[in-house]
Amino acid sequence: ARIFARELQNASVDFINITGGWHQSRVPQIQAEVPRGNYVYLAQKIREQIDIPIAIGNRINDPALAEAILQRGQADLISVARGFLADDEWAVKARSGQADKIRKCIACMTCLDGVFLEKADLPGVTCAINAQAGMEETRQIKKPRQQYRVVIIGAGPAGLEAARVAALQGHEVVILEKENHLGGQWRLASIPPGKEEFYSLIDYYQEVLPALGVQLKTEVLADVDVVASENPDIILVATGAQPHTPPLPTEAGTQVMQAWQVLAGEPVKGENIVVVGGGATGCETAIYLAEQGTLSADSLRFMMLHQAEEIEVLQELLTHGSYRVTLLEMGKGLARDMARGMRWTALKHLRTLGVEVREETKVIAIGTKGVEIETAGQSTTIPADTVVFATGVASCNRLYQSLKESFPNVHLLGDALQPGKLIDAIHNSFEKTNDLLG
Ligand SMILES: Cc1cc2nc3c(=O)[nH]c(=O)nc-3n(C[C@H](O)[C@H](O)[C@H](O)COP(=O)(O)OP(=O)(O)OC[C@H]3O[C@@H](n4cnc5c(N)ncnc54)[C@H](O)[C@@H]3O)c2cc1C
Ligand SMILES: Cc1cc2nc3c(=O)[nH]c(=O)nc-3n(C[C@H](O)[C@H](O)[C@H](O)COP(=O)(O)O)c2cc1C
Ligand code: SF4
Repeated sequence: ARIFARELQNASVDFINITGGWHQSRVPQIQAEVPRGNYVYLAQKIREQIDIPIAIGNRINDPALAEAILQRGQADLISVARGFLADDEWAVKARSGQADKIRKCIACMTCLDGVFLEKADLPGVTCAINAQAGMEETRQIKKPRQQYRVVIIGAGPAGLEAARVAALQGHEVVILEKENHLGGQWRLASIPPGKEEFYSLIDYYQEVLPALGVQLKTEVLADVDVVASENPDIILVATGAQPHTPPLPTEAGTQVMQAWQVLAGEPVKGENIVVVGGGATGCETAIYLAEQGTLSADSLRFMMLHQAEEIEVLQELLTHGSYRVTLLEMGKGLARDMARGMRWTALKHLRTLGVEVREETKVIAIGTKGVEIETAGQSTTIPADTVVFATGVASCNRLYQSLKESFPNVHLLGDALQPGKLIDAIHNSFEKTNDLLG
């Protein structure tokens, strides 16, 4: 690369933009698991030998990081791509001292699906967390004729986005959330290894909603009376979804858990863990479990700096954890509901971490000795100390049904209407709130 850079300089190019690779590179380039600013070292090395300006990009989603790279002299220019899809006011907010109000790209790779998969329901390029991206003309915030008191139930992504839109329209907005924190399922979505960046979406809403005048009431379990006491003109029900447990014969004394419980930090029992369901949540939970007991980032840094062990030993410690994890999938293919750019890295992690994958395998029963499974008509029992279900979710809309009987203006949003992905919750919520209240 240094030779190329010198030749480019000799050929009088104005500046060089450095990247670690493209979307089919062996090492991930722009996924959430890539640490912010990871490829700055490449720019720095080339800049040491070149006089023309050097730009660096990939996972620089925060102006403070961009500024630090420039200050340290590691690059002359910062290139930001998805940052502007997630928030077209990225630069304006950075310049005006409002960087904490930037909706940072969470590197979920959904926008690239819009390009590569040409999904009929996606308009080319859009952004999971910015419902206006790519639709700036057709999805402008509508100005209402009247101001309403809007009560939103549930502070998951759908409820939070509805609150943002309603507040921007000038309505009086209250959110009721039963937990002591915001985010709903999105908190769990940000727990599997490499998805920590996802949490910044919750930070964003936490930052902007109070500034827009939204009242956030946590630890309030909404029911008909609680909602009535808020005197709503309009009620938006964004109560999300709950995990589904398939009706399987299960012997007493077996340890059966939901993936949500595992990701929330509840301990599993024993060494042999069987995860049932090879969708995105099942794959990520298997990776999460297989990584338990492996070398932490801090320990790796410490050992590398002190050359404490051979590289092969470190590699072994990074990939061999405390549990033997088996992942069962009834159909063919894993993580088919994952963004394409995240999927190949998830499959790679499953392999690297030694997760045993069994596709086209049906669970027949769960017993204290293990899980009885059937593959191609053959049944067998595999050892399991804990069985973890990741077999889909079902909408929580009972409260909606009750509210409908007492109030005229009640509407469902997000997973409570139809379980889906983040893009569905945010885009549906944006459109519906904008249309209903605008
Ligand atoms: C482990 C996991 C990983 C995921 N990973 C991804 C991913 O990588 N990409 C992606 O696109 N999507 C992912 N998802 C899906 C995504 O999180 C959901 O689509 C999204 O959170 C749905 O948002 P929502 O607001 O409709 O519902 P939820 O997030 O379920 O929020 C509902 C909220 O309502 C509250 N609530 C319910 N009843 C009441 C009541 N009576 N009173 C007050 N509050 C109430 C709940 O406490 C909750 O906070 C993942 C989900 C999980 C569980
Ligand atoms: C919608 C979209 C399509 C892209 N298409 C390609 C592509 O075909 N090949 C590629 O190597 N990079 C592609 N990129 C990567 C960008 O060119 C850029 O290098 C990268 O997104 C910079 O990182 P950042 O988005 O974290 O700022 C694409 C990015 C986006 C957002
Ligand atoms: S869709 Fe995801 S990766 Fe793409 S710009 Fe939006 S937040 Fe970033």
